[in-house]
Amino acid sequence: MKINIITLFPELIRNYLNDAILAKAITQKKIEVEINSMRDYAEGHYKSVDEMPFGGGDGMVIKAGVLEKALLAIDNAKSKKVIYLSPQGKPWNHDSAKQMAKQNQDCIFICGRYAGIDQRFIDKYVDEEISIGDYVLSGGELAALVLVESVSRMIPGVLGDSQSCVEDSFADGLLEAPQFTRPQVWNEVSVPSVLMSGHHQKIAEWKKQCAYLVTLKKRPDLIHSSVADFDLQKISEFYDSLTAADKKIMGIEDLALRSE
Ligand code: ADE
Repeated sequence: MKINIITLFPELIRNYLNDAILAKAITQKKIEVEINSMRDYAEGHYKSVDEMPFGGGDGMVIKAGVLEKALLAIDNAKSKKVIYLSPQGKPWNHDSAKQMAKQNQDCIFICGRYAGIDQRFIDKYVDEEISIGDYVLSGGELAALVLVESVSRMIPGVLGDSQSCVEDSFADGLLEAPQFTRPQVWNEVSVPSVLMSGHHQKIAEWKKQCAYLVTLKKRPDLIHSSVADFDLQKISEFYDSLTAADKKIMGIEDLALRSE
């Protein structure tokens, strides 16, 4: 999968891609990322990329012609999916990342800046608008990186341990159970005893039930019909079986479980 990123700030993108998991994924050719500088296609005597908006308003608008030139300079641009990062786009989530990784289609990400980009470019070239949340960033660069990283994590072989993204929060529509490492007792707080039992099946079941409880506590909106085997009775029983210390360590001591 190849991703082209059209941006006014190539270094912002480059610096992030040059480190950690993404750098490795790129070196190992699991994913290819090419950064295309919008500035190279600036127009006119002053080499501008933006102009004041017609009809007034704050900020500058990136010109359609500049974006078109930057886009069409990319090899096979017309066969690639063009995505504009914008707060007006479709909200991005775990499933979107999974789907994009599965589709394995070459994409071009357009990063806006200032007050946005000329609507006529969007209408002519953009296949999809994507937002990473209901807030406004100064540009699409962070959003583009969020997409690249969340999609890369889903590509087989990118994460060292092939299980790591299977157990991620959201992987099964739930948040992940809390994690602990050595020492077993820290600050007078003990790790839940089941995790020290060595009983893999019991641990897996414990993690699953805890994932439900943590999700009910922190993000009840995620528990809906698509979460396959949600059984409130079973979860209530599991909750009642936990020690007060284990409830406390998971921040669920005051969880109100009731069927509605
Ligand atoms: N550009 C500016 N704000 C954005 C957002 N919330 N999501 C994606 N791209 C953006």
